[in-house]
Amino acid sequence: MEKVIPYGRHLIDDEDIKAVIDVLKSDFLTQGPKVEEFEKALAKRFKAKYAVVFNSGTSALHGLYFAVGLKEGDEFITTPISFVATSNAGLYIGAKPVFIDIEEDTANIDVSRIENHITDRTKLISVVHYGGHPVDLENIKKIAQKHSLKLIEDGCHAMGAKYKDCEIGNLAYSDACVFSFHPVKHITTGEGGAVLTNDEGLYEKLIMFRTHGITKNKSNFINKKEGPWYYEMHYLGYNYRMTDIQAALGISQLKKLDSFVKRRREIANIYNEAFKNNPYFDIPVEREYAYHSYHLYAIRLKDRYKNKKSEIFNALKEEGLGVQVHYIPIYHQPFYRSLGYKDLYLAKAESFYEKEISLPIFPAMTDEDVDYVISKVFEVFRKI
Ligand SMILES: Cc1ncc(COP(=O)(O)O)c(C=O)c1O
Repeated sequence: MEKVIPYGRHLIDDEDIKAVIDVLKSDFLTQGPKVEEFEKALAKRFKAKYAVVFNSGTSALHGLYFAVGLKEGDEFITTPISFVATSNAGLYIGAKPVFIDIEEDTANIDVSRIENHITDRTKLISVVHYGGHPVDLENIKKIAQKHSLKLIEDGCHAMGAKYKDCEIGNLAYSDACVFSFHPVKHITTGEGGAVLTNDEGLYEKLIMFRTHGITKNKSNFINKKEGPWYYEMHYLGYNYRMTDIQAALGISQLKKLDSFVKRRREIANIYNEAFKNNPYFDIPVEREYAYHSYHLYAIRLKDRYKNKKSEIFNALKEEGLGVQVHYIPIYHQPFYRSLGYKDLYLAKAESFYEKEISLPIFPAMTDEDVDYVISKVFEVFRKI
């Protein structure tokens, strides 16, 4: 094996390193000024009123499900083709994910199937912009409004993506949007996440939820302030705080988001050109309403190759391509089976899982890396 190219990785430069070192030399490693600075920068960048950062995308989702009022016994509509975090965060609260089948081309939740699954227990629709391709937000919003449901975006794949002219995170269609700053995502803080919202009520709850459900704001106090030290706990919250070290990295990374997305799109264009009309697999689509930010470059094997997925996957690995599969349908997981999803079979999600492989795509990839991937992919398929 000559070299290994992962499916995704971070790009850290000297400016990022200096930002982190500056915090390490400062008075605050956590709960200092950098968290608020990062939140302000995120809110400004996405033209949202509020941003609340968390120590992961998962904890941000948990906070948001709590803040929108999801409760034990409620149902929420979501997709099976996502990382388990999207539905797990609702399970933490005791709510029940209702998985809807996906669109064949985008692998996003199939809008036309949502309404059939709405019951009087449904409180929320939680969508994922799979791989960086936005869902059809306008039509999903119409359904949410018609049934008085909250609509939230798990935008963990979709920083820098646009739906029509609206950047994901801008909240023109939804109540809130979550981002993840895991190193394979568009920008990184090591681990980290954020919720963007225009809703002051959600904002207040999120701020409290990430720090034990505690408020120090005297206008919120239920009891009389007993002294300058006083604080109150109103909800059972968690320690989901981001550190100042992470926030400083986030501020520095955010400045580079546009160039990172640009490079991802350049790589996708090179792949698209090289792989168009190939006899082995289909390439990602970009619908007319979408500006794809290519967190993933997800190929789908043609029918005659799907029984050879393991063989192809192993051969690509052997050639040094750090390919991955996104995703095993969530309801396949033994834990979900044990919760009662064992008979669930969503045909499009199953078929997508049979065929999908994610090729390497990340801003630090050189043109040589991209050419290497292309030549190795063709080499592997020619031999199969
Ligand atoms: C769609 C989606 N949602 C949520 C998450 C969770 O984010 P984090 O890893 O930051 O907790 C991920 C992470 O992979 C994800 O891909």
